[in-house]
Amino acid sequence: MVQEKKAQPIGIFDSGIGGLTVAKAILKELPNERIVYFGDTAHLPYGDKSTAAIQAYSVKICDLLLKQHCKVILIACNSASAAAYELVKEYVGSKAKVLNVIDPIVNYIGKTYPGKTIGLIGTKQTVNSNVYRKKVDDLNLGIELKSHATPLLAAMIEEGFFNDSISESVIHAYLSDPALKGIEALILGCTHYPLIKKQIEAYYQGKVDVLDASMIVAEHVKNYLQANKLASDKLVGDHKFYVSDFTHSFEESTRIFFKRQVHLEHYPLWE
Ligand code: DGL
Repeated sequence: MVQEKKAQPIGIFDSGIGGLTVAKAILKELPNERIVYFGDTAHLPYGDKSTAAIQAYSVKICDLLLKQHCKVILIACNSASAAAYELVKEYVGSKAKVLNVIDPIVNYIGKTYPGKTIGLIGTKQTVNSNVYRKKVDDLNLGIELKSHATPLLAAMIEEGFFNDSISESVIHAYLSDPALKGIEALILGCTHYPLIKKQIEAYYQGKVDVLDASMIVAEHVKNYLQANKLASDKLVGDHKFYVSDFTHSFEESTRIFFKRQVHLEHYPLWE
């Protein structure tokens, strides 16, 4: 039974193609794993949606990932991790292990920055849900979390504005906000943000550690698979990439997030 399960894919989902930054890190860390990726491009952006809407989308996506026999479902979106993780975990039950992108980074913060002041940037949903704050407080390690919603950043990146003067101005305007004063590290709490990590690092000039969760999450998935003897021994079959709404521009943008182009299949969540 365990033997069979090893060969099952890892399901990964996001509001769109931003979660491909996490998928890329997973394949780098776990090259023998097959992935099924779902980008909910019909409902993008999640960051401005209600908790109830994100929960409904997430459950529908899990139906597809379970149909594809995923052994793990990774919510590769901070907004969905904040809004729907507990519900999805209950919904999926024992059919697959559900992981999110928030817990691994919170554990990392606990190990690396006890007693320090840490910043968080993310969508309105992620920041206003206070999920990061609650989880950091639960560590009880005297860590102060200062957060600031940065809703323009994901849209800006989707529109191709990064590593240029426009993105520099927007990043500067957000990071200079007094809400983030005095931080020693900054969590990039959105799966789009690895694409602007260099510009954020340039803003801080080495004075603040900039934490991109994708590698930390990939390592967490690897540890889970190995501890539970679920890691695949060799890659069998092809990765699959689904989107709920298809445009060529999404397909072209996958190269930016995934570092190589992929073929997207259209899979509407509601017929
Ligand atoms: N990738 C999503 C996240 O990690 C942000 C984009 C969106 O608002 O849908 O929060």
